[in-house]
Amino acid sequence: MNKDIEKVLVDEQELDSIVKSLAEKIDADYEGKNWLMVGVLKGSVLFMADLMKTMKNDFKIDFVVVSSYADGTQSTGRVNILKDVSQPVDGMDILIVEDIIDSGNTLSFLVKYFLAKGAVSVKIVTLFDKPDRRQVEVPVEYVGKVIPDAFIVGYGLDYAEEYRTLPYVGILKPEVYS
Ligand code: IMP
Ligand code: MG
Repeated sequence: MNKDIEKVLVDEQELDSIVKSLAEKIDADYEGKNWLMVGVLKGSVLFMADLMKTMKNDFKIDFVVVSSYADGTQSTGRVNILKDVSQPVDGMDILIVEDIIDSGNTLSFLVKYFLAKGAVSVKIVTLFDKPDRRQVEVPVEYVGKVIPDAFIVGYGLDYAEEYRTLPYVGILKPEVYS
């Protein structure tokens, strides 16, 4: 195990089963639609890849890059789009893929942003949810796992751009960021 990880919160096997169960639900709900999956880079990259190959439906994909965190562990509340989707979204059903919802600022911003650009529907799938930390209410259609208030890394999630390549999700030792 990585020396900066206090404990493994979700191992590879559990990640697989979470992805499988979300993929089944989304497949059923989006059957027959012409829709766009939008990943929020970079944290969602492994989750989205696993979801895509597990799902039976075909669909279009795109990505956004947003920033609100700088290199800390607390949301600043201000969200900026650093990279937008590269196709029109008007008339589309959109499913945003996020690694984790914390304050809710990022997803609340993105939902409004895509609706303003003309999307017909904007729903959210998030791998993790930390409901105790919510500052803004956001309806989330699909949640992989609800977790306690701890800073987690791995399987795409980072702290200051590190730990994204870990195949499991672990709680970061607080001394690493304090
Ligand atoms: P929100 O805008 O506060 O909901 O934050 C969402 C974003 O913060 C996510 O996309 C993550 O990039 C980041 N984030 C929140 N909590 C964690 C965590 O525990 N580990 C890694 N990144 C996190
Ligand atoms: Mg993120």
